[in-house]
Amino acid sequence: MRDWSSVAMGVLFSGVLTAGVIGGAAAMQEDHTQLIVGAGNALPQLSEEENFQLSSLCPPSFEKTAEGQCKLVNLYQQYSSVQGRGVGGTQTSLPAHRDGFSPQQIDLGRFLFFDPMLSGNGELSCASCHHPDLGMADGVDRSVGALGTKVPRSSPTLWNAAFLTSFFWDARADSLEEQALGPLYADEEMGNTPEQLLTSLNDNATYRDMFKQAFPDAAIEQITLEQLYTALAAFQTSLISLNSRYDQYAHGYHDALTENEIAGMNVFRSFVARCSECHQPPLFTNNQIAVIGVPEPEGLPLDIGAEKTFNAPKLKGGFKVPTLRNITKTAPYMHSGGMEDLREAVEFYSKGRGHAVPEGVEMQLHWHIWEPDLTDEEVDRIVDFLGALTDERFKPRIPSQVPSGLAPIGKLPDALHLQNNSNTNLLTASTEG
Ligand code: HEC
Ligand code: HEC
Repeated sequence: MRDWSSVAMGVLFSGVLTAGVIGGAAAMQEDHTQLIVGAGNALPQLSEEENFQLSSLCPPSFEKTAEGQCKLVNLYQQYSSVQGRGVGGTQTSLPAHRDGFSPQQIDLGRFLFFDPMLSGNGELSCASCHHPDLGMADGVDRSVGALGTKVPRSSPTLWNAAFLTSFFWDARADSLEEQALGPLYADEEMGNTPEQLLTSLNDNATYRDMFKQAFPDAAIEQITLEQLYTALAAFQTSLISLNSRYDQYAHGYHDALTENEIAGMNVFRSFVARCSECHQPPLFTNNQIAVIGVPEPEGLPLDIGAEKTFNAPKLKGGFKVPTLRNITKTAPYMHSGGMEDLREAVEFYSKGRGHAVPEGVEMQLHWHIWEPDLTDEEVDRIVDFLGALTDERFKPRIPSQVPSGLAPIGKLPDALHLQNNSNTNLLTASTEG
């Protein structure tokens, strides 16, 4: 396979991005834990990872400023308008985003994200439900929390979280920092308390040292919860996925997409399907809430979504428009994971406006929810196109160890167990046969 990124970047741009890519370390997937052998000393020294030395380099896609902050550098920044050309124009600029964290804050956030010490019983980390190998989600309809029970909603991807203006399916948090309070302290998610979390962080000499590296100007000696939330936010804003084959195409490299994918993109952008009105490029979300009338799986009560957040009956059943980036990695789909695969999710739009709204429920469906009556062929092409939105080049590296000494990640998502089990079965089958 040819690496289109280097082709497109090399041909079209003056290497700004390449600098970012080479400079990055913290979030790169490649294993950086080579042994460093000191001059005249045959003993291998500890790698950065093993001695918990935080990276001083910005992750790929970021450039370090003179002040030591990581600034996003992206090709979409060369386009001036958010309008682009027509519905879902390709050469549109990105909306505002969060950046400006230091490399050390981002890297500290990475260790915290994968450390199950953040949960009350030491079993769950953020990555238990937002795993790099599952599109930063967890591969199940609804996540399983510390109590072993399913939470009411599906785990969203965290890719491109830097561009979100509200958080959770019902938009009830305004920042990543505020969002973190949800999973950390909810009994059915990570089940921790602020007191216990502060104590476990401050009791840990490695974390005390790492927080000093990340927050060298802090006024007090103790680790604070604000620093924890900042570091988690810093790490999450480094999860950039804007270099899929679709992006190469958008920047002018026509051959990056197949004919079927281009056909699908045209349906996606058409005034009939109207997908890109809400799943607006380049993020494939417009950061708004829309009522589209997705049904709950059998047996689950109606989730009123954003009606509750804004105390607004017209938002009954309204949810944030999710990004479609890396969408092939995050099945099952929708807020309660009721749709098995992408085809089912796309077909939903073609089954008639409001076809799944329960009888007697008053829902004010968004006016862009139409009756596109897509043919099977058109649905297939859209699914093809959605497959071109995958870019996991900057997948975060899972630390080989975390400061608590617990196994990184903790409880793995069930979907990974399934994957691994079926692999093992295959292996056993082949050795037996
Ligand atoms: C038990 C599984 C679970 C754990 C553990 C978990 N999350 Fe989540 N996460 C979810 C679910 C489910 C949602 C959606 C909840 C909702 O919308 O009501 C979510 C939503 C989010 C969102 C909002 C994304 C968006 O598009 O609005 C962010 C950000 C996030 N989680 C980050 C984290 C961080 C950081 C941690 C660790 C401190 C964490 N999560 C731990 C399951 C989990
Ligand atoms: C009016 C705005 C709107 C339009 C138009 C729209 N969507 Fe959506 N889309 C949403 C919302 C809101 C959700 C989440 C709904 C939920 O979970 O209840 C969603 C969810 C999805 C999902 C599942 C994402 C996930 O992470 O689970 C896919 C796939 C999707 N849409 C594809 C499409 C396609 C393809 C079209 C065009 C045929 C389209 N959408 C048109 C608003 C829209």
